[in-house]
Amino acid sequence: MHILHVVGARPNFMKAAPVLHALRRRPGVRQTLVHTGQHYDRNLSDVFFSQLEIPVPDVNLGVGSGTHARQTADVMSGIEPVLVERKPDMVLVYGDVNSTVAAALVCSKLLIPVAHVEAGLRSFDRTMPEEVNRIVTDQLADVLFTPSEDGDKNLLLEGVAPEKIHRVGNVMIDSLVRLLPAAIQCPMNGLPDRFALVTLHRPSNVDDSETLKSILESLLTVNEQLDVVFPVHPRTRTRIAQFGIGIDKLHLLEPVPYIEFLALQKRAMVVITDSGGIQEETTYLQVPCLTVRSNTERPITVTMGTNILVGQDSRKLAFELSAILEGRAKRGSVPPLWDGKAGDRIADVLQQL
Ligand code: UD1
Repeated sequence: MHILHVVGARPNFMKAAPVLHALRRRPGVRQTLVHTGQHYDRNLSDVFFSQLEIPVPDVNLGVGSGTHARQTADVMSGIEPVLVERKPDMVLVYGDVNSTVAAALVCSKLLIPVAHVEAGLRSFDRTMPEEVNRIVTDQLADVLFTPSEDGDKNLLLEGVAPEKIHRVGNVMIDSLVRLLPAAIQCPMNGLPDRFALVTLHRPSNVDDSETLKSILESLLTVNEQLDVVFPVHPRTRTRIAQFGIGIDKLHLLEPVPYIEFLALQKRAMVVITDSGGIQEETTYLQVPCLTVRSNTERPITVTMGTNILVGQDSRKLAFELSAILEGRAKRGSVPPLWDGKAGDRIADVLQQL
C-alpha cells in the first residue's frame, strides 16, 4: 500500500507526525511525504520537522504565500503531476488549511482516494476561510477520521455515509503526549514565573486595524496584572507594524518551536488565543484557555475542557482573567480518545481498508 501525505502549514505537522510514525511500523506500507511549502519560514516549518522527527519531504512544492485563490491554485497545479507520477493508493490530508482542500480537490478529479484527518469539525461560520476548507474537504473525502463525537454528528447531518466515518480521537494530542516529557525539561530562561501566554493570527482578529488595536489594548491591560508572553505570528507582526501599534511593554517573541511552545503552555497561568489547536492542547494540559473568538469548531474544549470563548469583548476577557487570578479557573477533563494512540488507530483503519 502506497500512502502519500500532504502537509503545508504549521498546524499540519503535529497531526501528520503520529500517522507517519505509526505507518512506518506497519509491514507492506510505503509512504511519500509532500510539503506544499505554504509555510516556509524556518521557525514555522523546518524546526517542527526536526522536533517531531518527520522525515525530509520527498517533494516540496514551494508554493509560499499569496491570496487564497493564488495559494490554493498553486498547490493544485503543483501537486497534480506529483500524484500522476507517483500513483499513490491513498492520499492523506490534514486539518483545514488551504493546502488541505487544494490536495483533496485534485485527488478527487484524479480518482485517487482521499482520507481526511481531523474531519467533521465545524464552527458554522463561513466567513472563516478554514470552515470552507473543512466543508469542501469532508465532502470530497473517501475516509474521514474524526477526533470526537461532535465531528461524527456534523458529518452525518451533511449526508456523509456512516461507513466512511472513523472516530479515532485527536491525533494532535499524540504528538503532545510524546513530546511533553521533553517540554517539561525545557529551560525557560528570561521568562517571568507567572505569565499569560498569547497567540493571535486569525484574519478576523488581526487584519482590521480597529479590531487589532482593541485586542492589543486589552492585552496591555492584562499585562498590568500578569506578564504577557506573546510569540508573534508573521501575519500579525506585519499588521502591527503596518497599523503602527506600540506593544513593546509585552514580552514579544518570534514564533516558537513545538517543544518550547508546549513548555510555555504547560507553565502558563492562562492562555489567550485565537488558534484552533491551542484550544485542544490547553484542554489536554488542563490549563485555562480564553479564546478570542465568538465561535469554535472544537466545542468539546468548551463543554468538557478548560476553554471559554470571550470573543472580542474586552470586559469578558477581564472578567474571566480575574476569576483565574483569584483561583476560580474553570476546571475540565480530557475528552475520550485523546490518549496518544490516535495515529495507531488511523494506521489500523488504513490497513483494514
Ligand atoms: C495558515 C492557515 C491557518 C492556520 C495558520 C497557522 C489557511 C487558510 N490558513 O494561516 O488555518 O491556523 O496557517 O499558522 O490555510 N508568512 C511568513 N512565513 C511563512 C508563512 C507565512 O512570513 O512561512 C506570512 C506571509 O506574509 C503570509 C502570511 O504569513 O502572507 C499568512 O500566511 P498564510 O499561509 O497565508 O496563512 P496563515 O495566516 O499562516
